[in-house]
Amino acid sequence: MDSNVFKGRSLCTIDDFSIEERKYLFSQVRKLKAAILSDDTALMDSFRINDPDFGIYEVFLEDSTRTKESFRNAANFHHVKLTEMSSQSSSFNKGESYADTFNTLTGYENQVFIIRSKVEGVCRYLEGECSEYARRNGLPYRPVFINAGDGKHEHPTQELLDEYSFFEDNAFSTDSIHLALVGDLFHGRTVHSKANGLKVFDHVKVDLIAPKDLAMPETYLEIMKDNGYEIRAFGSIEEYLSQNDIATKWYFTRPQLERMGERILERADELRSCITFREEFLSRLPEGTIFYHPLPRHKEHPVIPVFLDNLPINGWERQSINGMYCRIVLLALVSGRIGSDFIPSDPKPSIPEEDYIHQVPDDVLSRKKEKVVSEGVRPIDEGLVIDHISRGKTPEEIREHMRLICKVMGLDSLKGGEWVSTGSDGVTWKGIIFRPGHMELDRKSLKRLAAVAPGCTLNFIKGGRVVAKYRASMPPRIYNFSDLMCTNEACISNALQSENAPAMFVRTEENKYRCAYCDKDHSFSEIFRK
Ligand code: CP
Repeated sequence: MDSNVFKGRSLCTIDDFSIEERKYLFSQVRKLKAAILSDDTALMDSFRINDPDFGIYEVFLEDSTRTKESFRNAANFHHVKLTEMSSQSSSFNKGESYADTFNTLTGYENQVFIIRSKVEGVCRYLEGECSEYARRNGLPYRPVFINAGDGKHEHPTQELLDEYSFFEDNAFSTDSIHLALVGDLFHGRTVHSKANGLKVFDHVKVDLIAPKDLAMPETYLEIMKDNGYEIRAFGSIEEYLSQNDIATKWYFTRPQLERMGERILERADELRSCITFREEFLSRLPEGTIFYHPLPRHKEHPVIPVFLDNLPINGWERQSINGMYCRIVLLALVSGRIGSDFIPSDPKPSIPEEDYIHQVPDDVLSRKKEKVVSEGVRPIDEGLVIDHISRGKTPEEIREHMRLICKVMGLDSLKGGEWVSTGSDGVTWKGIIFRPGHMELDRKSLKRLAAVAPGCTLNFIKGGRVVAKYRASMPPRIYNFSDLMCTNEACISNALQSENAPAMFVRTEENKYRCAYCDKDHSFSEIFRK
């Protein structure tokens, strides 16, 4: 049995490789870099795939210099079959889907796909689709997908080279890092990958420097907080430098003003000036400060001015060179050429299946309580009562939520009603939905109800008595429902993309639903199509 845990693995987001796997990758990059710089051909050869039938496909649907060319040079290093798909003349332009396109290329003996696209989560989706295609066609490999940047989402290979560069400048220590992230933190996928990427360091302090319009999205802030990072926010470099605790590593990103509306474009100069380094700032930097930038740098409006190129502060050039070394090693790992000596520590214990519908025991039900009937509600003899909906919200919010529940649960066409009332304390508002008649809900319907109305109670009534009562809590995962949809229009699972990728969500620590493709967080009431 092949014990290489890297072989055949995709890298759709940085967290697809564990912290110890990334550290192992860094150790290999360090070795390869030394071999290349000292022209140690025997050591270099120990990394080479050296197989002219090993197929690597580059598909860049957005422009690129570094990622595309460093992967191309990495593939040349490996002596493999490298093909570049020309998207301008492909059947994408005849409306072909991503799944059909990449299934086709999978069938032509290609094991690795490197994809850059505006569509977020595309690699995660194709990983499943094309594996299934390979299985049903008896192909002897499972294709690997490497995300070379997907919209505003992630850029995991850039993250690898960034982390490696920080590690190199940290005397190869991962004990701690204090990093300033400067620039367009809203659109920059390279900084979004840092939310999980920096976990490779034991103690992380992050200073976010961006005006409000370019601030880090809430989802990534939540991830950083969950990861235990110390986080501070500043509106400009000027503001940052007017306090004393200044990082010695600064990571700049290009303002992606072209992605913004007219209103923001009118303020482009003002926004740029908040995140552009100026000569007068130099004397305020701590000794040994290093600047990084994923590049490209805008030739008219560089956030790192060119006069800094010749100073020791310049870390971005070495960072860019490290890109090729990291990508050579990544290809060597996923092809199985190296990595067999890596022994992972015990795998994380799998999360036990969690029940999200709890039946209230019969003895609790049978305890006689004085019957309290909400004002205006007539008890029903047989039927279904969903109670405690949106407890504590306003009557308007509760009514809107009940409309959604009725739609999602298919209750609109049945007789019955909805009611907003106060609970037993006479103060807190809650919603009640009742439907008379014989009612049964299967497991799938119970899961839908738990997803759309967590915290509610579900009562089955017979002979004027509650014969079964359930309490619902948020299921840890929601998928397999055709009316689920991620609200991010750029996500592969959004209907606007017409890719028929089934939406999937995972519950977060903050009880949000995170899209399994693009990581956008949703409240439970947002994941079903309205
Ligand atoms: N850093 C980076 O992704 O650069 P390119 O867009 O040139 O690939």
